Amino acid sequence: MNSNDLNIAIVGATGAAGGTALGILAERGHPASKITAMASERSAGRKIQYGDSELTVVQADHSAFDGVDVALFAAGGLVSRRLAHKAVEQGVFVIDKGSIFRMDPTIPLVVPEVNGEDIEWHPGIVSTPNCTSTPFVMVLDALRNLSPLKAVTVATYQSVTGTGVAADDELMEQSRAASAGGVVSHAVYPHQIAFNVLPHVDDFLENGYTKEEQKMLNESRKILHDDRLLISATCVRVPVRISHSESLQIEFESPISVEDASRALSDYTGVKVVDDPSRNEYPMPLDAAGKDDVLVGRIRKDTAHENGLALWLSCDNLRKGAALNALQIMDEALRRNALKPATQRV
Ligand SMILES: NC(=O)c1ccc[n+]([C@@H]2O[C@H](COP(=O)([O-])OP(=O)(O)OC[C@H]3O[C@@H](n4cnc5c(N)ncnc54)[C@H](OP(=O)(O)O)[C@@H]3O)[C@@H](O)[C@H]2O)c1
Repeated sequence: MNSNDLNIAIVGATGAAGGTALGILAERGHPASKITAMASERSAGRKIQYGDSELTVVQADHSAFDGVDVALFAAGGLVSRRLAHKAVEQGVFVIDKGSIFRMDPTIPLVVPEVNGEDIEWHPGIVSTPNCTSTPFVMVLDALRNLSPLKAVTVATYQSVTGTGVAADDELMEQSRAASAGGVVSHAVYPHQIAFNVLPHVDDFLENGYTKEEQKMLNESRKILHDDRLLISATCVRVPVRISHSESLQIEFESPISVEDASRALSDYTGVKVVDDPSRNEYPMPLDAAGKDDVLVGRIRKDTAHENGLALWLSCDNLRKGAALNALQIMDEALRRNALKPATQRV
């Protein structure tokens, strides 16, 4: 079976991540007749552009999955909790972009370049990581081939589309209002995001970290199959529309040269090294936006840690951080003949 033969439902098709999934399917030439765009009751009947054609949005409910082969859920945890298992019961292969299934030990959490083989044991649902974890584990996976990892300190610089369409609208509205000297109001974030940075992504936990920071630790360990890896994250929201950036300091068991690290990263599928400081070339969110690759640069010795390397990455949070990774999981499941749950395969 070819991926273009699959009937695909996008749950959350009017949102940032779901809309990007539709855009990628249109780029691939997936037939409009084999796509169902789903969203809330609010959007039912709305027309959305799909390549040269239009799709009519239907309300996501139990009856909407008839004939669907693969469903990409990008409508938040409550919707996934309510509908994902029901869809699986109807024979649908579910790829969930939210966080509710990620740490469930019965559900694989997959970045195909890193742990594509975990798709083999799925029970009908495969989860995709948080948009900060995905590029992070790809870089760590490329480098751990040179020496085992000991500890990583990471600071993120996360765009507003990571929060969804409403946050992007708020950044643009605040930017206009602040530039015109008007009143700046906020609803999505607890403070103004335009011309500001917020050291606060997702809710705070009792240990002083945020849920987003905890996700980077928990999800990375699960994907890398490495429960001993030490990770300390500080997640920061910045007034950028698309692409998350991350500053990493990585400590290894043994020394790694900058040249070997750069080569290992260049050779890794889905990573592109952009690293020529003499020409002011390094990854930036504006350059990563709309691209599939994780851009990595500023690779240098970490002067604070023996056997340490420091580097910087930028990655489109809506593509590899969300929609692209989900569609690559679909491709990988198809390639492995593993669309059905593991228990139903002969
Ligand atoms: N944005 C990212 O970079 C990113 C990255 C990784 C994972 N994700 C995950 O993807 C999911 C969506 O995030 P987003 O950023 O795309 O949010 P968003 O832009 O706010 O979009 C939310 C989508 O969910 C739909 N929805 C809301 N309530 C619904 C309901 N009761 N029934 C059916 N559909 C409903 C919305 O439809 P209406 O238009 O009808 O309200 C909209 O299509 C979240 O779980 C998020 O964690 C996002």
